[in-house]
Amino acid sequence: MDAIKIDNLTKRFDAMIAVDGLTLTVSRGELFGLVGSDGAGKTTTMRMLAGIMDPSSGDAWIMGRHVGREGESLKGASDT
Ligand SMILES: Nc1ncnc2c1ncn2[C@@H]1O[C@H](COP(=O)(O)OP(=O)(O)OP(=O)(O)O)[C@@H](O)[C@H]1O
Ligand SMILES: [Mg+2]
Repeated sequence: MDAIKIDNLTKRFDAMIAVDGLTLTVSRGELFGLVGSDGAGKTTTMRMLAGIMDPSSGDAWIMGRHVGREGESLKGASDT
């Protein structure tokens, strides 16, 4: 199981596309850095992964649980 799986995650603010079809996986135990210039969409991505901002489209799973549909069950969850 991937620690993080992101599939075509997109966030639009009106005409501005802040995150455009982001797709990636992070394996368990892997260190992953999110690097980009000012306004690249890093914080928006993290907000969507944390479940505090809804994506415009796309999906994300943390430890196999869908952030939008199963986000509550992730709070307090451990990876062990
Ligand atoms: N709530 C919002 N409403 C409208 N536009 C937003 C909102 N949040 C972010 N944006 C815009 O979305 C784009 C991505 O912003 P974001 O904050 O995700 O970038 P960042 O990579 O975290 O930048 P920085 O390195 O400056 O922290 C920027 O153009 C920003 O102005
Ligand atoms: Mg930021």
